[in-house]
Amino acid sequence: MVKAWLFGCLLLVGIGSFAQVAEPALIPVPVEVKYMPGSYRLGKELTVSFPSGLENKAFLLEHLRSKFSTAAGIEVKEVAGGNAQLSLSTFVTDTIQNFESYQLQINQQGVKLSAPSSAGLFYGLQTLWQLLPPAIESKSKAEGVNWSLPYCSIKDAPRVGWRGLMLDVARHFFTKQQVKDFIDHMAAYKYNRLHLHLTDDQGWRLEIKALPKLTEVGAFRGERTGRWGEFGKQDPKEPKTYGGYYTQEDIKELLAYAAQRHIAILPEIDIPGHSMAFLAAYPDLSCTPGTPYQVNGGDRFMHWPGGGKFYGDIDNNLCPANERVYGLLDTIFTEVAALFPIEYIHMGGDEAYKGWWEKSAAIKDLMKREKLKDMHEVQSYFVKRVGKIIASKGKRMMGWDEIMEGGLAPGAAVMSWQGEKGGIAASKMKHPVVMSPNTYTYVDLYQGDPLSEPPTYGMVRLKKSYEFNPVPEGADPAYVLGGQANLWSERLHTVRHAEYMLWPRAFAVAESVWSPQSKKDWNSFVNRIEQHFTRFDQAGINYSTSMYDPMLTVRLKDTSVEVSMQTEVPNLSIHYSFDEFPPDNFYPLYKDPIVFPAGASTLRVQTYRNGKPIGKLMILPLADLRKRIRK
Ligand code: ACM
Repeated sequence: MVKAWLFGCLLLVGIGSFAQVAEPALIPVPVEVKYMPGSYRLGKELTVSFPSGLENKAFLLEHLRSKFSTAAGIEVKEVAGGNAQLSLSTFVTDTIQNFESYQLQINQQGVKLSAPSSAGLFYGLQTLWQLLPPAIESKSKAEGVNWSLPYCSIKDAPRVGWRGLMLDVARHFFTKQQVKDFIDHMAAYKYNRLHLHLTDDQGWRLEIKALPKLTEVGAFRGERTGRWGEFGKQDPKEPKTYGGYYTQEDIKELLAYAAQRHIAILPEIDIPGHSMAFLAAYPDLSCTPGTPYQVNGGDRFMHWPGGGKFYGDIDNNLCPANERVYGLLDTIFTEVAALFPIEYIHMGGDEAYKGWWEKSAAIKDLMKREKLKDMHEVQSYFVKRVGKIIASKGKRMMGWDEIMEGGLAPGAAVMSWQGEKGGIAASKMKHPVVMSPNTYTYVDLYQGDPLSEPPTYGMVRLKKSYEFNPVPEGADPAYVLGGQANLWSERLHTVRHAEYMLWPRAFAVAESVWSPQSKKDWNSFVNRIEQHFTRFDQAGINYSTSMYDPMLTVRLKDTSVEVSMQTEVPNLSIHYSFDEFPPDNFYPLYKDPIVFPAGASTLRVQTYRNGKPIGKLMILPLADLRKRIRK
């Protein structure tokens, strides 16, 4: 009897460790991974060895110590030689072309991690964390956890070299600590470029020592909360209590923090458009003198009537015909270039409304003098001069798609955001390109039905972001540096909201830029995401569950409104009600398109999996759904 009980327990342990082995949730999925039966159990102490002379060793040791001690209480001890339980080594070989690659082996002898560089070792460790139980992410001691690692053999390397995330710190100011947390989250998913959108109409966030007014005036605005774009205008005398900026010392600290995690920071100074904060400090730099500039606080001054057209009520552009503009930009880029080691400086270049330039006598003179045909050429003249300034500081210029209008500056790199066509074209013209198409990687857009999401615009559902291919068909791969997701922050008031927009779509982009296209699999990805949700619960990081919410199609059937629903995630059942009661799983199960019954004014929808609600209760008023019907 005792023997039978013991056998049962062993079987369970076996099944338990096999279960862990069978479905490890690695994001991004590695190039090659083989699991073997069994797992390596960690004790109270873990010996670690490093290759001699390893750059960044002190940081890696500290990284290991804090990760293993917090939740697992495992003490990391450095030992010399190759007999450590966790042995890190570097190697040089002709067969590994990629310096960010790594190989990880876990067997009875312990863990062997090898890589050609400190970056590769760091990425291998990020994979190692994901092989441990989710409780490793807990901020406090986790009791009763079997700290085991599945026996496996992993060979891995990134698909592209630029794996970026953009954080808009201009519209919403994120503190230095919040940026560090963002960097930690990026690093865990093997991102390696943090693009900081440092300036915009709503704030100038970088100390420029020679021009202190930029931050004294440009970094602060009146405080507002509520719905972006509908805020009341600021009274010029209103206290400017919202904002902040990074001193150059702050930036140095962030650069060092990011570099330890193999992340380079790309600075963006967005000009000539998006410059209201700049103009609040230096009003004479626009082509419309006398404008009472203030840092924009979220009242709407740009309008987007559709078809890609837009216009502004206020001239928020620097004036390409004003020589003083180039003098100040020289001063700014001198300091930016000295501060940021990355080879590129991003100068924005997007969404400059040219209507104010058309009215300017100074621009007319410039056009005559420089033989510029139209406003695109005026913009291109500006961009090319900025390119020369940036080049004179030993850096290369990067800009959004619009820098292609009127002719691309020599050597300029394009960050392609208006779909993929700009990036494809620029790569064919042999200009370096980072693909960040708003159709796939804009993680500020809606990810679920607008009636059940915080207000924003557009739509990039998770599945769409997972379809992102950083090297699209038609592009010259030799000129595609990589891909990037962008988190604009107009409508974000908190880190919780930022995290909600970012995850899980930033998992999708992380896998798209790291893993081979052939390894991507939507169903497997969804399964793995769910395990990372558990990790995020442990770590206290927010995420969206909108992938469980159905996608609606609304049409008129005779005179009634008909709603069709489908889910992007498999194996969900959709239950619904028209009677104002939140539908549980005893309510009707959605199978075919449903028609609003006479008298009903609201459809409520909730998805279930295995009898449990999952995702949000969606409350869908008939009046709002009617607006979606195309006439
Ligand atoms: C952009 O989204 N305006 C680059």
